[in-house]
Amino acid sequence: MSKNYLCEDWKKSMQLSFDFNHMMADFAADARAAVRSNLRKIAHTLEGKELDKVQASIAKLSDPPGRLLKKNFIEPRDLSQLADRLSAAHDAVQSARGCVDKMMMWTELPYNQAQVVADINETAKAIREKFENFVVLGIGGSALGPAMVQQAMNNLRYNEQCACRRSGPKLYIEDNVDPERMVSLLNLLDLDKTCFNVISKSGNTSETMSQFLIISDLLKQRYGKAYGEHLVVTTDAAKGNLNKIGKADGLKMFVVPDGVGGRFSELCPVGLLAAAVTGIDIEEMLAGAAAMDERCKNADYMKNPALFAAGAMYAAMDKGMNIHVMMPYADSLKFMADWYAQLWAESLGKNVRRDGTPCAAGQTPVKALGVTDQHSQVQLYTEGPDDKVITFLRVGQFRSQITIPVGCSEFPDVAFLCGKTLNQLLDAELSSTEYALLKAAKPSWRVTLPEVNAYTLGQLMYFFEMQTAYMGELLDIDAFNQPGVEEGKNAAYALLGRKGYENKAVELNARPEADPRYVL
Ligand code: PA5
Repeated sequence: MSKNYLCEDWKKSMQLSFDFNHMMADFAADARAAVRSNLRKIAHTLEGKELDKVQASIAKLSDPPGRLLKKNFIEPRDLSQLADRLSAAHDAVQSARGCVDKMMMWTELPYNQAQVVADINETAKAIREKFENFVVLGIGGSALGPAMVQQAMNNLRYNEQCACRRSGPKLYIEDNVDPERMVSLLNLLDLDKTCFNVISKSGNTSETMSQFLIISDLLKQRYGKAYGEHLVVTTDAAKGNLNKIGKADGLKMFVVPDGVGGRFSELCPVGLLAAAVTGIDIEEMLAGAAAMDERCKNADYMKNPALFAAGAMYAAMDKGMNIHVMMPYADSLKFMADWYAQLWAESLGKNVRRDGTPCAAGQTPVKALGVTDQHSQVQLYTEGPDDKVITFLRVGQFRSQITIPVGCSEFPDVAFLCGKTLNQLLDAELSSTEYALLKAAKPSWRVTLPEVNAYTLGQLMYFFEMQTAYMGELLDIDAFNQPGVEEGKNAAYALLGRKGYENKAVELNARPEADPRYVL
């Protein structure tokens, strides 16, 4: 593997950039005024329908006393008024780094895993040599990260490629207990050629443990005591049932470090093993995370992208922007929106502040994909309620390029596409959506990845984790627990008769039967 990330020039060229202009009222006002003035210049050359169109645009861009801009965009003073709180958020996050009790060990993952990485790479090599399929069994934070990295880094049709073109076994990430999905997988797999990685931080989650029971039963039937040759377990170092089973049966085990929560675990063995199995350079990914960490340590919010992003989003929420749309313009980043949705929703959706007072915190994440969702959701984003911020993920250089061939010259409304690349088309569509939003006075911002590689992906993940941590401080909530998820997990245990959950079963069974009037 090339060690590009050891070269400073390459690292510089791969630095992510964050453009918040389209969230800022001053920029939006200038941009809208400039467009208006240009339109006025051309208006007198037009007549009829063309003139009507331009006049309608001018009217849209005229924002009497800056009403919409003030309402929807952030003014520099909104941020300067937050300066003290941003500084406090910065200090709180930075001083909690590496603290297990505060679930802040994830900050250290780029630095403290040399031995683990060596073990992962060795295990991954052995798996690549021996198996044709690698199946991740997990849910939530134990599955979304591996799926996101696989989609970002490997060929978009990875599993459909022949083995000689793949950098590892086929990869399946099973994050549900839908029986049809499980049966279809089992019908597909040749057990002799399959290795399973069961991932559960708690080692107790019903969904993952059910999957484990089904798979280990099949493996035991075929291989007896040697069933562990087809299994790798990733779980807590000491706690949980998966840990106990793994130790008792002598299974190969990786540890989810103490102080690393599920949704912050992609950069530990939870995500690194699956990535390494498919040939991804996990050291490069960690180097990317370390580089972003440096940027996010800066106490000046104008120089710290995660702190600025948290401040901007907090200010936007203050203006009623309670929905956050994550819209990558690249299929490779499609599942980044899924991974991010969990990180943002589970971390920030809380009903108590840290001092115990009630609140209703959080911003609803929405997943979208450019350009696909331009033809589905963007109508709502441009003309619907003023309650959204759109984040675009843009890729500078794609790994493939395709030119639209010349043809249809007799149809100029089609022929204008000829000779352009799909890359140009995608980029033009992103810029046009951004512009349409600006014209409609809706805020957005964009993150540009010079390319999608392990280094830029590591930066992006770490950036979002830091933004979430800073946001948790601004909202004054615990961003690292998930009592709402636990409530559901406990209720499921009770319904399924788990020992120790009898009282929960009584609580649940107290519910009356459904009122037939409301069942239609
Ligand atoms: O972020 C979290 O903590 C959760 O989403 C968990 O990842 C999810 O509930 C699965 O838990 P576990 O890994 O313990 O099986």
